[in-house]
Amino acid sequence: MHTCPFSLYAYIYITMAKITYKDQEGNSKTIEVENGLSVMEGAIQNNIPGIDADCGGSMACATCHVYVEEKWLNKLPNAEEGEVDMIDMAFEPKKNSRLSCQLIVSDEIDGLEVTTPAKQS
Ligand code: FES
Repeated sequence: MHTCPFSLYAYIYITMAKITYKDQEGNSKTIEVENGLSVMEGAIQNNIPGIDADCGGSMACATCHVYVEEKWLNKLPNAEEGEVDMIDMAFEPKKNSRLSCQLIVSDEIDGLEVTTPAKQS
């Protein structure tokens, strides 16, 4: 019997991180999102309501706006100027506002909790 050596030895090891998405009514859903995807992509792939992502992640719409739980703020990279500008145009921005398309999932943010705003602008 002939066996392809790649089927025996080659496999992809995908690491995941848990991201919790909450809404303003207190509903919460925790999803395992593949490292390297954005928090927005994890939401879209899992039909999380409240994250529209109209521009597909090119930082041009602010409809992926989320509030990051305070304890996670210093574990995230700082927002770039373009992200800060877009957050200013989001619905009810706060000091813990981020664009979820700019938050890349990794082991370092395993357990991240974000809350969607009451609506997206
Ligand atoms: S998806 Fe448009 S700014 Fe994030």
